[in-house]
Amino acid sequence: MSRVRAEFVTTGLAVAIVLLSLAACGNDSGPTLAERVRRAESLAPSDPQLAEKFGRSCRVCHINPESGAPLVGDIHAWNGRFAQGGDTLLAHVRAGFKAMPGHGQCFDCTDDDLRRLTFFMAQREAR
Ligand code: HEC
Repeated sequence: MSRVRAEFVTTGLAVAIVLLSLAACGNDSGPTLAERVRRAESLAPSDPQLAEKFGRSCRVCHINPESGAPLVGDIHAWNGRFAQGGDTLLAHVRAGFKAMPGHGQCFDCTDDDLRRLTFFMAQREAR
């Protein structure tokens, strides 16, 4: 084997090892379910009026993994949802979406409240 070829093979192996270890990291390095639930339970909107609405509507499902709802502060779970765009998310909350009832069970929430609550749960800056 020529020297150049040997180096080529070595570089190829190094790249493969780096890629494999990256893939392994992607698997289970995230927080456990118990940690995600604890985080969800610990968060509340800083605005007291919004916090009150959150506490009697969204919270009950969005801190409970058995509800099937994306957990409060579970950024990974929310990123996929946000890929649809904020307007689609708002439309889904207003109309109800699969197991989620219309308005997320907050009937005195304005559109702005629903949007802010959604951004809060996803721990994003409201835009
Ligand atoms: C009775 C339970 C329940 C309540 C109360 C509730 N949700 Fe949900 N929510 C769910 C479930 C379940 C899903 C996931 C639905 C699915 O994709 O199967 C969900 C998903 C969502 C989504 C993502 C929708 C999408 O298109 O992916 C948003 C945004 C959301 N909820 C916002 C809210 C807000 C804001 C409130 C409070 C005003 C709220 N939810 C209250 C159960 C609830």
